[in-house]
Amino acid sequence: MIPVLTLDGPSGVGKGTVASIIAQTLDWHLLDSGAIYRAFAIAVRNRNIKINDIDGLLRLAGELDLRFELAPNQQSLKVYLDNVEVSTELRTEKTAELASRLAMIGRLRKSLLIKQQKFKRPPGLVADGRDMGTVVFSDAPFKVFLTAGVEERAKRRLKQLQETGIAGNISHTLAEVQKRDERDASRQHSPLRPAKDALVIDTTNLSINEVIIKVMALVKA
Ligand code: C5P
Repeated sequence: MIPVLTLDGPSGVGKGTVASIIAQTLDWHLLDSGAIYRAFAIAVRNRNIKINDIDGLLRLAGELDLRFELAPNQQSLKVYLDNVEVSTELRTEKTAELASRLAMIGRLRKSLLIKQQKFKRPPGLVADGRDMGTVVFSDAPFKVFLTAGVEERAKRRLKQLQETGIAGNISHTLAEVQKRDERDASRQHSPLRPAKDALVIDTTNLSINEVIIKVMALVKA
C-alpha cells in the first residue's frame, strides 16, 4: 500500500508551501493538482479553444504535453507545456481564474483524474488541491483540510505573487481570492469541501511551522 497525504483547502491558504515541505521531510512524491488545472488553462488560451467547446477541451486534455520538474529541494516547481516553460504565467491570477472556470466542467475533471492518480508512487505521495481527499484519493489514510480567514489568505497570496515577481494589490487580490473560492465551493462537480474523515486545521493564527507540526503528528500517528 502506498500512503497518500491529501492537503485540500481554499486559495491562498498555504497548502502548496506546507505540501512541499512535508514531501521533502518524508521524501515522498508531490502532486500540485492546481498546477495541472492552471497549465491546462494556459493550453486552452494558447489554442484559442472556447470554454463551451467541450469536445475541443476533452481532446486537448487527452493530448496535453505537460511536464513537471521539481527542484532537488522540492521547493520550486518548473512546469513545461509543449516543452516551453510556463512557470511564471502559471502563477498569475488570470490563469487561476480560467483554471477555476474550466474546473467546473465535470467531464473535464474526469479526464484529468488518471493524470493525477499516476503521481501515486512508492514510497508515498503528498497531494494538494481542492478534491484530493474527497475524490482523487478518497481512500487516502491521511487527509487534511486547511482553512484561514479570507483576509489572511489574500495577504498570503499577495506575498506569494510578489515573490514570483508578479505585481498586485491587497483589495484586488482579496476580491479575486473570494470570487474563486465561491466558484470552487459552489460548483456541482467535486466542490471544495473537507472530506468527512479529514483533519480540519484553521491556520489563520498559525505559522507555517506550527501547521507542519500538526500535519506531521497526524502522519506519524
Ligand atoms: O490550487 P490552485 O490555486 O493552483 O488552483 C487553481 C484552480 O484550479 C482552483 O481555483 C480550482 O478551481 C482548480 N482546482 C480544482 N481542483 C484541484 C486543484 C485545483 O478544481 N484539485
